[in-house]
Amino acid sequence: MRYLVTGGAGYIGSHIVLALLDAGHEVEIIDNLSTGHRKAVPSAARLHEVDLRDGAALASIFGAHQWDGVFHLAALSIVGESMRDPLHYLEHNFTSSLNLIRSCTQHGVRKMVFSSTAALFGGPDRHGAITEDAAIIPGSAYGESKFFIERTLHWADQVHGLRSACLRYFNAAGADPDGRAGEDHKPETHLIPLALDAMLHRRPALQIFGTDYETPDGTCIRDYTHVSDIAAAHICVLDVLDQRSVAYNLGTGTGHSNLDVLKSIARVSGRDVPWHAAERRAGDPSGLVADATSFTRDTGWTPRYAAIDQIIATALAWRARHPDGYGDAARQIDAASVMRR
Ligand code: UFG
Repeated sequence: MRYLVTGGAGYIGSHIVLALLDAGHEVEIIDNLSTGHRKAVPSAARLHEVDLRDGAALASIFGAHQWDGVFHLAALSIVGESMRDPLHYLEHNFTSSLNLIRSCTQHGVRKMVFSSTAALFGGPDRHGAITEDAAIIPGSAYGESKFFIERTLHWADQVHGLRSACLRYFNAAGADPDGRAGEDHKPETHLIPLALDAMLHRRPALQIFGTDYETPDGTCIRDYTHVSDIAAAHICVLDVLDQRSVAYNLGTGTGHSNLDVLKSIARVSGRDVPWHAAERRAGDPSGLVADATSFTRDTGWTPRYAAIDQIIATALAWRARHPDGYGDAARQIDAASVMRR
């Protein structure tokens, strides 16, 4: 089959591209490379360096190619940043997605898998894993922008028959177990890569944003899900789209506090992560854990790398081999020297 991946040069997108190529599919990518990396694109995939807000460029690409399905990941995706410039986030994510969805309806694309988010559920403090029935109350402009797009996809199905799967992932983490891809955000804002760099003394002590949350150790709880498991889920869901449009919560069902993550890094590496307490970060919900029962029931998906130590081990292996991500200018760090196992 032939698939298009928007944002395919980014962190999660590049792992989906690998999963599709591994399964024997043909892959094309649309990415404006604003946060993605040319080096993350495997030679077997074709990259169109285009911004989805450029309607004319999109029309020309859709006019010249046909796809059996589209995986839509391209977006601005940093929760904290979206609270500093909410209108920019809403405008950017919505207009780019609207252009893409319109192109799909105009050119006969039948299936879209959309990268949605747990940030839909960012409202009041929650206890327990979140099912698809939970009230959608985005706690950030980022989450709200993704909800706009879920609603747009609903109407694209109702009126144009574009089937969609909205996969609300929780916290993607880790790296390709074969070392072919990994996380490289500039600037980096995510807990695990920042904590690894603090442990490796590549940056100052980690700030832990908020230690007074209503959680057992006072720090936020997240459901860290291996990025290759998230990639596999995108392929699993395609068959369901033969029947109907769907929205699923996608995670391991286990929550880890920020301090749990630091303990895992210490177990895997044998080294402590230097850290200090800092103010809460705007837009951060105290707990986000997925109940993925529906997704597992309908697709048979289960995470292969569910243990936090496995996730950390793959993230550390990538970080040690690629200290500057895809730039790779700096020397590699001897992975064996910073990994216990
Ligand atoms: N954190 C720190 N210090 C840091 C960085 C993060 O304490 O230096 C904390 C955050 O405050 C939060 C937790 O670590 O409590 C996780 O934060 P991340 O920035 O790693 O991830 P987020 O939960 O904010 O967001 C991620 C993705 C979003 C997605 C969301 C869904 O970036 O796109 O998960 O849960 F919507």
